[in-house]
This record gives sequence, C-alpha cells and structure tokens, in this order.
Amino acid sequence: MSFFSHKHMVKHLSKSNLKVRAFAFALTALFNLTFLTTSAFAQDGGMSAAALEGEKLFKANCTSCHDMQNKMTGPALKEVHTRRSDEWLVKWIRNNEKLRASGDKDAIAIFNEYNKVVMNNFESLTEDQVKNVIAYFKEWKAPAPKPGTVAEAEPKANFYSESTLYILLFLIVILLVVLLVLRRTKNSLKNSYNEMTGTTEEVAEVNPKAAAFRKWVNPTIMKLGIGVVVLLALASYGFYFGVTEVAVQQGYAPEQPIKYSHKLHAGDLQIDCKYCHSTAEYSKQASVPSLNTCMNCHKGVQLRDKYNGEVSPEIKKIYAAMDYDVESGKYGEHPKPIRWIRIHNLPDHAFFNHSMHVKGAGLTCQTCHGPIQEMEVVQQYATLQMGWCINCHKERKIDVENNPYYEKLHAKIKAEKDNKNSVYSKYFTKDGKISISPAENGALECSKCHY
Ligand code: HEC
Ligand code: HEC
Ligand code: HEC
Ligand code: HEC
Ligand code: HEC
Ligand code: HEC
Repeated sequence: MSFFSHKHMVKHLSKSNLKVRAFAFALTALFNLTFLTTSAFAQDGGMSAAALEGEKLFKANCTSCHDMQNKMTGPALKEVHTRRSDEWLVKWIRNNEKLRASGDKDAIAIFNEYNKVVMNNFESLTEDQVKNVIAYFKEWKAPAPKPGTVAEAEPKANFYSESTLYILLFLIVILLVVLLVLRRTKNSLKNSYNEMTGTTEEVAEVNPKAAAFRKWVNPTIMKLGIGVVVLLALASYGFYFGVTEVAVQQGYAPEQPIKYSHKLHAGDLQIDCKYCHSTAEYSKQASVPSLNTCMNCHKGVQLRDKYNGEVSPEIKKIYAAMDYDVESGKYGEHPKPIRWIRIHNLPDHAFFNHSMHVKGAGLTCQTCHGPIQEMEVVQQYATLQMGWCINCHKERKIDVENNPYYEKLHAKIKAEKDNKNSVYSKYFTKDGKISISPAENGALECSKCHY
C-alpha cells in the first residue's frame, strides 16, 4: 500500500519540470521503501539441512543436560567434534554404556570425570540422525546477541506498536516537507516564467494579505494539505483506538510468586521449551510445569556460593512448596502448589489448540509468544485478538505435502494438477507447486474457533 502512486503524483505536480519529476519519483520510492521495511524480517543464518535437522534433534533430546557453551549436567559440546572422532561420537551417543563396557578409555574417563552420572542411551536415533547431530556440532556458531529480535517473529501481529507510531509520524513529516518544497518549486517556476515573458503580476490589490493567501492556495497544494490533515486525524484515531480499545492484554506481565526467569533457563541455559511445557506438542494446552520438573535440577542447584552458604531464597520457595527438607533430602507430607499467575487467556467462547499449531503447522513458540528466551518476566507478546488469528491464517501456508494429516487433501489436489477447470487449480503456483493457506482450507469458518 502506498498513499500516492508515482504517476498520480507527477501528474499533479508539474507537466514540464524534470527536477520535480525526479523529486517525486524519489519520494514515492521512499514511501514504498518505508512500507517494505516494516514487513521485512530476519532470516536464519546459513546451516546445512543436515545440521538444521541435527539442531532439532539436539534441542529435543539433549538440552536438558547439555548446552553448547556451558557445562551443565553434561559437558559443553561446542568443540566435542575436535576431541572425539565421528565414529566414537556415534557409538557414544547411541549407547554410551556399551562403549564403556567395551573398555574404551575415553568413554570411561569422561564418565568418571562426571561422577558417573549416567547419560541416556539414544538407540532410538538412527545412525544418520546422530550424524546430523554431529553436523550441527560442527556448524554451530555462538549466537550473536541481538537484543529484542527473534528469528521468526510475526511482524504484522504487532501493528499497534511504538514503531507504527514512529512510521506514521515519519510519513507525516515527509508529507509536510513535500508541501513546502512544492510551494517553493511553484514560486520559482512562476518567477522564471515571469522573467522569460517579462510579465509582472503586480496587479494592485485592495487587500495585499488576501492576495498573498490566494496566490498560496494553489489547488494541488490545497489537496495535498487536506490529505495530510485527514491522514493525521485518521492515523492518530486508529492508533489510539488500537492501543486503548483493542489490545488491552498485550504486554501483560504480572510478577510471579517465584522469580523464575525464562531468560536464564530458556536463554542462557538453553533448556528446550518442551522440557517444561511438554504438552504443547500433543495436546490443546501448553501447561505450566509442576515443581517436580524444577526439582530435577534444583535438588542439586542451590546456588550456595552466591548466598554465603545458604540456599538461594527463591529456590527455598520451591523447597517450601514441595515440603522438601534440604538437610535430610526428604519430602514431607504437606506440599502446597505454587499458584503461577496465568498470563495468556482467551475468552471461553474461543477455541485454541497448541498441538495443531506446534506439531501440525510446525510453528515455533516464538512466532506467537515472542522472544520468551530473552524475558526475565514473561509478557503477552501478541494481541490474541480474533484479527491476529485470522491474519495469520490468511498469510501462512500449510505444508500439505509433508504432513500426514493432509495426505488425502494432497492426493486430491495433486490428481487435478493438469485440469485447468478444477476447483483446485487455484492452489497451484506458476511453477506448479501447491500453495494453500489455512484460510483456503476452511480456517476462517466461525465454528472452527468458536464453541
Ligand atoms: C540425562 C542427562 C543427559 C542427556 C539427556 C544427554 N547427555 Fe550427553 N552426557 C551426559 C553426561 C553426564 C555426560 C558426561 C559423561 C557421563 O557422565 O556419562 C555426557 C557426555 C556426552 C558426550 C561426550 C562429551 C565428551 O566431552 O566426550 C557427548 C558427545 C554427549 N554427551 C552427547 C549427547 C547428545 C548428542 C545427547 C542427546 C541425543 C545427549 N548427550 C543427551 C548427560 C546427558
Ligand atoms: C525450566 C522450565 C521452563 C522452560 C525451559 C520454559 N518455561 Fe515457560 N514457563 C515456565 C514456568 C514455571 C512458567 C510460569 C511462570 C511464569 O510465567 O514465568 C512459564 C510460563 C510460560 C508462558 C506464559 C504462560 C501463561 O500463563 O500464559 C509462556 C508463553 C511460556 N512459558 C513459554 C515458554 C517458551 C516459548 C519457552 C522456550 C523458549 C519456555 N517457556 C521455556 C517454565 C519453563
Ligand atoms: C535443567 C536444569 C534446571 C531446571 C529444570 C530448572 N532450573 Fe532453575 N536454575 C538452573 C540453574 C543451573 C540455575 C543457576 C544459574 C546460575 O548459575 O546462576 C538456576 C537458577 C534458578 C533461579 C535463580 C536463583 C537465584 O537466587 O539466583 C530460580 C529462581 C530458579 N532457577 C527457579 C526454577 C524453577 C521455578 C524451575 C521450574 C519451573 C526451574 N528453576 C527449573 C537449572 C534449572
Ligand atoms: C499459533 C500461536 C501459538 C504458538 C505457535 C504457541 N502458542 Fe502458546 N499460546 C497461544 C495462545 C493463543 C494461548 C492462549 C490459549 C488459551 O487461553 O486457551 C497460549 C497459551 C500458552 C501457555 C499458557 C497455558 C495454556 O496452554 O493456555 C503456555 C505455557 C504456552 N502457550 C506455551 C507455548 C509453548 C512452549 C509453545 C511452543 C512449543 C507455544 N506456546 C506455541 C498461542 C501459541
Ligand atoms: C502464526 C500463525 C497462526 C496464528 C497466529 C494462529 N494460527 Fe491457527 N493455524 C495456523 C496454521 C498454519 C494452521 C494450519 C495447521 C496445519 O497445518 O495443520 C492453523 C490451523 C488452525 C485451526 C484448524 C483449522 C482447520 O481447518 O481444522 C484452528 C481451529 C486454528 N488454527 C485456530 C486459531 C486461533 C483461535 C488462533 C488465535 C487465538 C490462531 N489459530 C492463531 C496458523 C496460525
Ligand atoms: C481463527 C479463529 C477464529 C475464527 C475463524 C473466528 N473467530 Fe471470532 N474470535 C476468535 C478469538 C480468538 C476471539 C477472542 C478475541 C478477544 O479476546 O477479543 C474471537 C472473538 C469473537 C467475538 C467477540 C468479540 C469480542 O470483542 O469479544 C465475536 C462476536 C466473534 N469472534 C465472532 C466470530 C464470527 C461471526 C466468526 C465467523 C465469521 C468468527 N468469529 C470467526 C477467533 C476466531
């Protein structure tokens, strides 16, 4: 969308002056650029397909104990491919127990170094899958800190943001500048015309102020001026309405009963979201973890160094809630659950299913929840308005080819590939690929989202 087309603008500006034309062209280009930049978003750094696959496997299976850069339950793995051969790694990862039993010195040494903590065997992973994980180790690079950005944020989800306001203000300033420049150009054109023809326009006028005003009010400039005013009014109204009436819950970030930090756990320690929100992949709800999950680590991680030998006061809250006695290491009989304050909450009449979006559509959590791994305190990132759901359903594509859920649909569409009269012909792109959005597959029907 651009408010003025190039042609339209030039017609109104001047029929003869090249300078003005060039200026107008530059301006329209600038307008279009501003709109384009608002919808541009970052791309993933280049990793091979194997390494990307490996990254997924690593995040799903290993990050509860390993981090690439930091020692956790297991060693940091960023340079492991330089100290071990590929063959050794495959054997270790698939069955470290067997490798140790075979008398492998390195395997026994590292096991002892880590106090004989047993790493799981991963025979469920094929050799090729393990090789992909190794490819990921090799191609892994320390992430450059990019404050406030995520690889796959939903730019349009956040229309009612500060940046929208800045862009609107920026456009208004530009329009005002155009107005000014046009006025000057018009005057100087008129001057040179007068010089050439030797005309002087100094006709006696009863009221010189009125004359000056009339000269100023050129129809083109007047139209532009009105345009600016209308735009300004509409923009501020729209923005005000968007902020105050619609997105009431966006940015909601209540203080929680334990100062649990996603930045620390999901960011610095790189614990996989699904380690704690394990149901997100296969059920409607993404569920907040029970304190048992925390205890997997916090039985041991007490941060006594940081608190003069005492257990961290925040971790004590976990123990208190679990009725866990640190000294004896025993659980009492009176646990009382922590009441986390719920942040995201759709009204009862709306239906949302995580598994459908996480597993079915393959969306990352960050697409909808923003850069959670950078948040000390979780806040609601998207509006969660109906328009937000609908927009995405119109823009995204369903991967009908590789999703078993859409096998039948895919077969039906594919069978009609060469039939130009088929209802399915609109789903083919020019180069013969299938492209279908959730919207085209019925995801705009009221009953899909409303009980
Ligand atoms: C339950 C915790 C746990 C999980 C899950 C885990 N590891 Fe480990 N890993 C360890 C521990 C602990 C060690 C150190 C050796 C030992 O004590 O057995 C280790 C050692 C390793 C080593 C050897 C490091 C070296 O310096 O030689 C590699 C490689 C490794 N793990 C890869 C993986 C991969 C890949 C996965 C996921 C598929 C994974 N681990 C999952 C705990 C775990
Ligand atoms: C170590 C466990 C753990 C990990 C890992 C974790 N979370 Fe959480 N998450 C929690 C806990 C506990 C809460 C509730 C307290 C809070 O809101 O901070 C929570 C709350 C949330 C909420 C808000 C829930 C609500 O009330 O609406 C979202 C969204 C969320 N997590 C997303 C994520 C994402 C995305 C990741 C991965 C980047 C992630 N979490 C990783 C434990 C975890
Ligand atoms: C996979 C291991 C792991 C899990 C699971 C885990 N944590 Fe942690 N957590 C850590 C580590 C490691 C630290 C300490 C980081 C450091 O060195 O400062 C930590 C630090 C903390 C701190 C900061 C304490 C302080 O005083 O600085 C709090 C609070 C905390 N965790 C709460 C939780 C809660 C609540 C859960 C469960 C929802 C949880 N953690 C689950 C590993 C874990
Ligand atoms: C397509 C958008 C979308 C994606 C992708 C998504 N969520 Fe959500 N999430 C939502 C919405 C909408 C809600 C509010 C649901 C409700 O109130 O019924 C929510 C709520 C939550 C909650 C609060 C508990 C609940 O289930 O209501 C947690 C925790 C959460 N999400 C975590 C995650 C994690 C972790 C991932 C990635 C594995 C993820 N979400 C992916 C949209 C999404
Ligand atoms: C970031 C994009 C995105 C957002 C935001 C989003 N969805 Fe979806 N949704 C999808 C995709 C993609 C699919 C297709 C899923 C698949 O491939 O199986 C889908 C499918 C669905 C379906 C199934 C439709 C069918 O035909 O069976 C429902 C219901 C749904 N979404 C509800 C919601 C609701 C409610 C919200 C808002 C609270 C929402 N979605 C927000 C991307 C999104
Ligand atoms: C993709 C999912 C989706 C579809 C399709 C959808 N809605 Fe909604 N609708 C929602 C969500 C989510 C909300 C809750 C938004 C909120 O909290 O304000 C909502 C809210 C509403 C509301 C209440 C408005 C309010 O401000 O609370 C009405 C009325 C409504 N929808 C009607 C419809 C009708 C009629 C259709 C069919 C033409 C439809 N919806 C289709 C997701 C959807």
